[in-house]
Amino acid sequence: MSSSVPVFELKGVTKKFASFPALVDINLQIYSGERVALVGSSGAGKSTLLSLLNGTLLPSQGEVWALGRNLSRLTSRRLRQVQREIGTVYQQFQLVDSLRVIHNVNAGHLGRWSFFKAACSLVWPLEIDTALKALAEVGIPEKLYERTDQLSGGQQQRVALARVLVQNPSVILADEPISSLDPKLSREIMDLLWQMSHSGGKTLIISLHSLEFARSHCQRLVGLRGGGIVFDAPVAEVSQEMIEDLYRLRGRGGDGEMGRGGEGEMGLKNSNSTRKYKL
Ligand SMILES: Nc1ncnc2c1ncn2[C@@H]1O[C@H](COP(=O)(O)OP(=O)(O)OP(=O)(O)O)[C@@H](O)[C@H]1O
Ligand SMILES: [Mg+2]
Repeated sequence: MSSSVPVFELKGVTKKFASFPALVDINLQIYSGERVALVGSSGAGKSTLLSLLNGTLLPSQGEVWALGRNLSRLTSRRLRQVQREIGTVYQQFQLVDSLRVIHNVNAGHLGRWSFFKAACSLVWPLEIDTALKALAEVGIPEKLYERTDQLSGGQQQRVALARVLVQNPSVILADEPISSLDPKLSREIMDLLWQMSHSGGKTLIISLHSLEFARSHCQRLVGLRGGGIVFDAPVAEVSQEMIEDLYRLRGRGGDGEMGRGGEGEMGLKNSNSTRKYKL
């Protein structure tokens, strides 16, 4: 793909849940190899935006283009083909706890494997070397045959990263991948994501509650509030004042009211977020 064609482009995107607009009139372009952090209070719309980017949600209005395709116009087969190129790391890992680690790592192949091959691999694991290499890259090769639910939270997050390594997508989306981890593990996981993006040339889009990591590991910050984009700028151009404004409670409705037009009590689930996000 030419570098002038965005990996993702959102054109006038609104996403409603029933009548509630989670995102309103979003215009955004993200280019190959960029590392972009989505920041903003709880309820701002970060996860919704990531779900639109990987096609698990479709917009109510507007268009989401990923890897040159309008996701609303694809058959489910074509959509799955595009989704093979988009790896997602979730806050809650989305692993099958009762399976051994190797099977969760091998789930990274599922977009490519036939149903038959995937079923066989559950009995006789296939591509063991690839899984082992991915686990070695995330620092836990010895866990290959352990049951996933016997791993710590940080180790499970590494398994989720190993699954994405096996998937080998051109884009990685990560939705608050460190929010349940201690500071040391958070740094390790952020470093791993940075490494995957930097040395692998992968585009990285990550929602973060830690502005410190957003600044240290990404090049660009997109600030969301109340379903709208408040700023979109290189890290160096995002001032303390812009950050404070992003998290400032506005009128009665706080976070929720910027793009959404209502006056109700919604938005911030976390009322001490201004303190929490200090730089
Ligand atoms: N499936 C859904 N059905 C109804 N409302 C939803 C749904 N998903 C999200 N919302 C609402 O849309 C808004 C944006 O939610 P979203 O999860 O994208 O926020 P977020 O920025 O990721 O928040 P957090 O930091 O807490 O993860 C919230 O008000 C939320 O309650
Ligand atoms: Mg979220």
